[in-house]
Amino acid sequence: MWKKYTEEIYLDKRLENYAKNDYYPFHMPGHKRRLDFSLNPYEIDITEIDGFDNLHKPEEILKSAMRRASLLYGAKRSFYLINGSTCGILAAVSSVTKPGGKILMARNCHKAVYHAAYLRRLKTFYLYPPVTSEGIQGSITPRSVEKALKRDPDIEAVIISSPTYDGVVSDIKSIAEAVHRRNIPLIVDEAHGAHFGFHSYFPKSSASLGADLVIQSMHKTLPSLTQTALLHICTDRVDEEKVSRFLGIYETSSPSYVLMAGMDRCVRLMEQRGKILFQNYAAKLSDFYCRAGKLNCLKVSAPLESKDENCFCIDPSKIRISGKECGVGGKKLYDLLLERYRLQMEMYSASYVLAMTSVMDTDGGFERLLNALYETDRQIEKENCNLIQPDFIEDIYGKTEKRLEISDAWEKEKKSIALSDACGFIAADFICLYPPGIPVLVPGEEISSDMIGQLTKCVQMGLNVQGIDGKMRIQVVNSSVIHYTK
Ligand SMILES: Cc1ncc(COP(=O)(O)O)c(C=O)c1O
Repeated sequence: MWKKYTEEIYLDKRLENYAKNDYYPFHMPGHKRRLDFSLNPYEIDITEIDGFDNLHKPEEILKSAMRRASLLYGAKRSFYLINGSTCGILAAVSSVTKPGGKILMARNCHKAVYHAAYLRRLKTFYLYPPVTSEGIQGSITPRSVEKALKRDPDIEAVIISSPTYDGVVSDIKSIAEAVHRRNIPLIVDEAHGAHFGFHSYFPKSSASLGADLVIQSMHKTLPSLTQTALLHICTDRVDEEKVSRFLGIYETSSPSYVLMAGMDRCVRLMEQRGKILFQNYAAKLSDFYCRAGKLNCLKVSAPLESKDENCFCIDPSKIRISGKECGVGGKKLYDLLLERYRLQMEMYSASYVLAMTSVMDTDGGFERLLNALYETDRQIEKENCNLIQPDFIEDIYGKTEKRLEISDAWEKEKKSIALSDACGFIAADFICLYPPGIPVLVPGEEISSDMIGQLTKCVQMGLNVQGIDGKMRIQVVNSSVIHYTK
């Protein structure tokens, strides 16, 4: 770990010191701390004074900036979001559903989608992604969407995440066709895909594939400041006025000009130098995958060759490094890369670590990662680590039964009980692995003994589980001594 100085009880001081050392960021934000704002942020931090327009009623400079963003992605209209994709998802879902209406959503959606369902008191219907041969959540299929829509003709909208946090992409074109046959809109949470469509090495953006509303976090995969995101309206199926109204509710009334200036710079960079930046980036990634393919013990996902019936397509910008086959857990690998090689990964799961890359990654960064992986690989080989097989967790999402709608369960009187005693109770709060922020348990879902076992394992493996306190207690609906399964 980096050396902490006494003055590091102050956040700004700690960040200042951190910025001076050589930890390499294989994580968000996508600017990789490599862009200069020649101005001091305080100098350009203003409010809606004369000459600088108003995000909530754009008529001049912000209107034209957002117009340029829509042209970049081929959208009908684009909105700057300064509360991240989160506020875009809340507004998108709210604008296409009636209070108490019905939504079809992928069960592996980010918690923001569940929060939208809670706020609109929606009845949720789930699409469960299959698991790929690599053990990650796969693509949502057009067939499963079609089937679910046939089962319930009152569904008002469909939302899925594509790409997922791991980079798994669904067949948006065919899904959009299936959704539009029912004359309802498709929302795509493309929070991890703001870099799509700039080069053929990467998938196309849903904005060009028929989705009606697309939300992208610029900060995750493009050189843009944290919290910056875009909401695109791509078709006439969406009421622009309603989207605007809900953004007015969910987004701050004091949008930061520093963040908006950062978005404008990012769009400009993509307009002017996007082609060359993405060409170089694709070449670096391609070289990395080629060289990493020769590791003996560790396994780096090979995005372009991987043909998996449960994965329509995969985003090569996300590098997944697994030690599963040689018995090295995700946390162990993550800690080793950080402590020995000063490489900060985006996240670890039970069996792999995830490195996030962007156009701002350097040759030196990829080289450092490769060297670290080769050295680690040799060490694993020498120590014959494959004799120790840690107990990996299987896919734990979607192993639950819904007993109450989210809005009903979250409002009910709750009590805290030991996780080990929770079998048959109904969850009164979310339990999420963070990252990726996908709820493992949603308020209103019944807690099974299998789920208790899996969650206990997650905590024991050091994964960040939100919703279980330090004493291994969770919130359940007070009156839920329903005990379906006991
Ligand atoms: C799939 C997905 N959607 C939405 C979000 C929310 O994005 P933001 O942090 O920009 O609000 C995240 C955040 O990690 C995410 O992973």
